[in-house]
Amino acid sequence: MYRMNKLNIVSMTANYVRNNLIGDNGHDWPHTYRVWNLGKRIAEIEKADLITVELSCLLHDIADAKFCNGDESIGPAKAKKWLQSRNIDFMKTNEIIDIIKYISFRKRDEAPKKKSIEFQVVQDSDRLDAMGAIGIARAFSYGGFKGRDIYNFDNMDDSTIGHFYNKLLLLKDLMNTKTGKKIAEERHNFMELYLKQFLKEWEGEL
Ligand code: ADP
Ligand code: NI
Repeated sequence: MYRMNKLNIVSMTANYVRNNLIGDNGHDWPHTYRVWNLGKRIAEIEKADLITVELSCLLHDIADAKFCNGDESIGPAKAKKWLQSRNIDFMKTNEIIDIIKYISFRKRDEAPKKKSIEFQVVQDSDRLDAMGAIGIARAFSYGGFKGRDIYNFDNMDDSTIGHFYNKLLLLKDLMNTKTGKKIAEERHNFMELYLKQFLKEWEGEL
């Protein structure tokens, strides 16, 4: 199916993404690296096609729309060009592009109703990186970048703590795979514990 061996295309893609990614400190190479690792782990347990999952994880945030004037098509187009230049076959390329087009939380309503197991694994991996200790760090980093309050009792939506209630605590119930659900459970509990402690400290109770 491929002109070069699987190991080669995955490591070449990792290098390409590392050197060509457009993002901030929440959507950077380390985010991609973590999603890639989670993807490998979940794909093995869920028996998803490893190469599709790995390439999709690596390419999923190659050009985030937030940093491309809201243009959602730049990332998938860039990924497609890369895969074609590596002679990945047409079907596989389309499969990967379809995954990266629709995995984001913002596009969850446009995603195909019947998700392939590979789609499910990549989406779970991306969402898991917004949860737990890493998710907390990313949220505050993004909030700082946007100049948001850490916590604002009068306007929760405008604070980073508000983001936990608007999005991060909802992710657990959006997991697709059994393995994703298991990992999400632990990360969710950690965020709940963190919020409990945070709010107690805020009131000077701890
Ligand atoms: P995706 O690209 O996966 O749909 P986002 O771009 O919305 O997700 O989020 C990327 C990271 O930035 C996540 O860790 C998310 O929690 C964080 N983030 C997004 N919006 C906010 C916000 N309003 N406040 C704090 N963190 C945010
Ligand atoms: Ni991502």
